Amino acid sequence: MSIKLTFYGHATLGLDVGGFRLLVDPFFSDNPSSSVSPESLSVDYILVSHGHHDHVGDAIGIAKNTGAMVITNHEIAGWFGRQGVDNVHAQHIGGGFNHPFGYLKLTQALHGSGLPDGSCGGNPCGFLLRASGQVLYLACDTGLFGDMSLIGDEGLDLAVLPIGDNFTMGPDDALQAVSLLRPKKVVPVHYNTWSVIEQDAEGWKTRVEERTTALVHTLTPGESVRI
Ligand code: NI
Ligand code: MN
Repeated sequence: MSIKLTFYGHATLGLDVGGFRLLVDPFFSDNPSSSVSPESLSVDYILVSHGHHDHVGDAIGIAKNTGAMVITNHEIAGWFGRQGVDNVHAQHIGGGFNHPFGYLKLTQALHGSGLPDGSCGGNPCGFLLRASGQVLYLACDTGLFGDMSLIGDEGLDLAVLPIGDNFTMGPDDALQAVSLLRPKKVVPVHYNTWSVIEQDAEGWKTRVEERTTALVHTLTPGESVRI
């Protein structure tokens, strides 16, 4: 069974997994590359990779409106609880859990995680998802790290990687990440939202497809791909 991934701009993703609707780092209201109104979405699970405003985004409102479960690290899960979001599931880096939609593990990320009100958001994470016979790695906001080769040993059908530079990996390091991860497909994110992270995604796609066996899907906001 395939998974449908929808790109909502910046680093916000929707995943349709066997009838379950997941939203990753739901950043809509202040996202210049998204025209989607968060009220229009029906969601079962919200995954939050770290505390930065462009990832926590509209998660509180969506969680309260929909009753969706928020899955994130222990520190951010506690923070959501203090914002009145009761349906939270805390995990931490290296730990996986069998959710109804699939097995989700938190992976390391080299980044920060301060929350919008200055609270400590613990350590940032990425996500490894085994569901519907597919293996997906969402690197989320991170710099390049050598242990991506261990994540690659999982046999990835898809890797979602930031390419924007400045806050995360840029195109050169993201190309190196593809070499370490060895995914079948790649979707670049976290670029072109603001001028400081402007990148030529089509140029990056050409370089990746010349130097690796991965196929790159550059998605415009609102566009979907099936994995
Ligand atoms: Ni960030
Ligand atoms: Mn970010």
